[in-house]
Amino acid sequence: MPNDRTTGDPALTRGVAGGAYAERIPVPVTLDLLRYGQERYEIFCAACHGVAGDGESEVARNMTQRRPPSLVDPRVQAFPPGRIYQVIVEGYGLMRSYEPHIPLAERWAIVAYVRALGRSRAAALDALPPPLRERAQKELP
Ligand code: HEC
Repeated sequence: MPNDRTTGDPALTRGVAGGAYAERIPVPVTLDLLRYGQERYEIFCAACHGVAGDGESEVARNMTQRRPPSLVDPRVQAFPPGRIYQVIVEGYGLMRSYEPHIPLAERWAIVAYVRALGRSRAAALDALPPPLRERAQKELP
């Protein structure tokens, strides 16, 4: 998709339209999309943000400046999908842009996977009986 920067709906291509982040993932979120997103996430993002998205990685441990944040943290999980997409396209602070390396469809697959990572973590905690859940929440990073 060589022209994906300039053609089509900006919510789809940039993650932002009319000054607002895309509130929805503009492609159907299927199991295949999530699997694809996982594969691309593990190639492009996991080295810094951790395989589980929790910010635990070798790179993070060795960062002397700002560490790559946890992507399963409620702060990031509360971002509209377009905001995560925009970070992939434009970079953010110390994080470079991945626009030249990750085509449009792969970016949305990664966004969908990052959100699934956050939800599966929350679901796993919710499934614990309350006393254990409180303990887990205290002890987990
Ligand atoms: C080389 C390490 C590295 C890789 C690879 C990387 N990131 Fe990051 N990412 C960072 C760092 C460092 C920050 C924090 C930057 C800052 O605060 O200046 C960050 C920040 C973010 C943020 C949070 C922005 C915010 O508003 O707090 C998101 C979302 C994100 N990255 C998603 C991704 C995704 C998705 C990928 C894979 C396409 C990815 N990152 C790949 C290092 C990386």
